[in-house]
Amino acid sequence: MDSNGHLFLDRVFGILKEETSDQVPLINFKHPKELEEILRDDLDISQPVSDCELERSVRKMLQYSVKTNKAIFRNQLYGCPDHYGLAGSWIIEAFNTSQYTFEVAPVFTLVEIKILKHILNLFGIPEGDGIFSPGGSISMLYALVAARYKAFPIVKAKGMRNLPDMIIFTSEDSHYSIRKAAHWLGFGTENVRLIKTNDLGQMVMSELDTAIQKELALGRYPLMVNATAGTTVLGAIDDLEVAADLCKKYRIWMHVDACWGGSLILSSKLRNRLKGIERANSISWNPHKMMGVPLQCSAFLLREKGLLHEANAAAAQYLFQQDKFYDVRYDTGDKSIQCGRKIDAFKLWMIWKARSDTGLERLTDHVMEIAEFCLSAVARKDGFKLVTVPIQCPNVCFWYIPTFMRNKVEDEKWWETMHKITPKIKELLTVSSRLMVAYSPLHHHKNFFRLAFTFHPVLDEKQVLDMLQSIEECGEKVTLSMLQI
Ligand SMILES: Cc1ncc(COP(=O)(O)O)c(C=O)c1O
Repeated sequence: MDSNGHLFLDRVFGILKEETSDQVPLINFKHPKELEEILRDDLDISQPVSDCELERSVRKMLQYSVKTNKAIFRNQLYGCPDHYGLAGSWIIEAFNTSQYTFEVAPVFTLVEIKILKHILNLFGIPEGDGIFSPGGSISMLYALVAARYKAFPIVKAKGMRNLPDMIIFTSEDSHYSIRKAAHWLGFGTENVRLIKTNDLGQMVMSELDTAIQKELALGRYPLMVNATAGTTVLGAIDDLEVAADLCKKYRIWMHVDACWGGSLILSSKLRNRLKGIERANSISWNPHKMMGVPLQCSAFLLREKGLLHEANAAAAQYLFQQDKFYDVRYDTGDKSIQCGRKIDAFKLWMIWKARSDTGLERLTDHVMEIAEFCLSAVARKDGFKLVTVPIQCPNVCFWYIPTFMRNKVEDEKWWETMHKITPKIKELLTVSSRLMVAYSPLHHHKNFFRLAFTFHPVLDEKQVLDMLQSIEECGEKVTLSMLQI
């Protein structure tokens, strides 16, 4: 290998271009044991290999990997990366540094400050503070730590003993990370109150009000309301204005999980769907979802400046010395729970620099238009049945009802069969490499599909119709005997 490995890196770049080209399938699906057998020699690390052998193994492994850059990868809330973001990602990997101090990341520190400022302005809390975290689940930990510290600063030194029972409110459709965070931070999952949602998936605010009053009457401490702007499955946005009113009335920390729907802030036409978010105490937004920043890139924003530092700082003397030769206020790392921290802000900055607010607004509007187009196509097509209308985020949820199931009484038995049909269609779509699409049950709804749309690749209507066509064709291949009922 040449001394700095550039030759090898050039060859890897060539492999990447070939293995993500239009000609390669989305997925060459193999079951785990079968795949283990196919890749046995490639996975083996007992002996060193030549660069050529390594290249062969890498190529083979990529052939069995999912090509998330394709339009037909609709399995998750992330997808094809924005190529400017991908370039940013390569640059920060190559420069291999950490975001904690100005001395090792002088430019990247300024980039993070700049991009956070821009985002804080967009979300309507220009005087706030923020940090990039490794994902929405970690941002949820940040939110709870900030809320708890604000209510009981003593917690940092003394822990939770002698503190009242703290209660966290969230909707039953909110992301599961809040329950994990409640466990990790010692609140306990039983102290998370799941508030009912309406048919669209929004938290029922009267139920939230009642639940808060009930906890107060029992002498417990209502710590945080987590309102969701874009639920994971239905894409519902809670009424943030009413949530803010309730939080103000009862003096509760308001967090908005805008990990998915926060991208609507980029559009002047759509951002009113997030009205009230500017009143939140904290907000989490994942540019690595809809916007296509390469994983991971999650912004945690806070209204009160200084609190993030106060709540999290440990003032390690070997790293955050106060007698350094430069302005140490630029050492931002002590606000973080992490020590070493990737330069996620740079990926986002690359995209913003290349596209500007205007370009991002166009992409946001387009993704919502495509989702609306999909919604109306699903509503029109025989055999398709929508779960919810209207939509607030680019999530379209529906069932495909094969011909043999139509014109029958939709009783419990019928729905039990539908519950098995949806995953079977998904299996057929995946193994034929036609489409990777998510499915889920929700409350009383049996398994249904969720097509969620992201900025990249920029889709046209024909591509959406092709996806529905694939679902229809695979759906028509399903027979009762396949379902083991
Ligand atoms: C609404 C919502 N919040 C939070 C998260 C968690 O984000 P992450 O996967 O970055 O931890 C998700 C993930 O899908 C989500 O949909």
